[in-house]
Amino acid sequence: MSKVIKEFSRFAHQYNQHNEIQVQVAKTLVSKLSEKTYGSILDLGCGSGAVVKNLQEMNCTYTTLTALDSSQAMLDIHPYSEKITKVCGDFNSVNFIEALPQTQYDLLLSSSALQWSTDLDRTFSLLANLSQNAYFAIFTSGTFKTLHEVARVNSPIYSAESIEESMEKYYGEVNFALHTYTLAFDSVREMFRYIKKSGVSAGEKKLGFKETKHLMESYPLDHLEFEVLFVEAKNM
Ligand SMILES: C[S@@+](CC[C@H](N)C(=O)[O-])C[C@H]1O[C@@H](n2cnc3c(N)ncnc32)[C@H](O)[C@@H]1O
Repeated sequence: MSKVIKEFSRFAHQYNQHNEIQVQVAKTLVSKLSEKTYGSILDLGCGSGAVVKNLQEMNCTYTTLTALDSSQAMLDIHPYSEKITKVCGDFNSVNFIEALPQTQYDLLLSSSALQWSTDLDRTFSLLANLSQNAYFAIFTSGTFKTLHEVARVNSPIYSAESIEESMEKYYGEVNFALHTYTLAFDSVREMFRYIKKSGVSAGEKKLGFKETKHLMESYPLDHLEFEVLFVEAKNM
């Protein structure tokens, strides 16, 4: 099991209380959809179902929805209906497509998950073959920007530019919008607890006790920063 999958599974039951930003992101993503009715939808990294819940709230209908996640614990808390098929699969594995109930979709959606792609080119080339129509929201390296600067670690996730560059190779028409968010905390301790439980890693380099203590003492902001790239992609 990868580190990311383990993290998400460990906190699956608490996830809904620690995902304020992801909740806003999923809402914005679904509000960008150009149609109210779709045929088949694939939700990549569906988690506990923020996308499906927003589709329902915004009266967007679909014939079928495949909810894909690599964490069974997340799938267990994802809503279920006759139209929904849950698939436990890893979008980083080349053969995850074989586990899907269909090989073509009318629409791909993914909110707050594709930052965990281990190879952007491979991911987008696979996804572009699955559907001609996609809306993605992807966390980018501006997330926890100041925290990473103070800790002198590199962001473990991709920059907006590298995602844009990769997507342009596989889609004919792409529109990007970069959104920033902040989340305020009463104490640095609470901020660190949030990072741990939100499933968004603080950096690849493991900080030791001393380094973490230093980081907590020298972090200059009362909030965390988030940066999310919204993409609408088409292949016609
Ligand atoms: C931050 S959550 C977002 C969940 C949901 N889409 C939302 O908007 O609330 C990221 C989800 O992606 C899943 N995930 C991470 N890496 C994945 C992978 N390689 N394949 C499939 N799912 C993955 C995690 O298990 C987690 O449920």
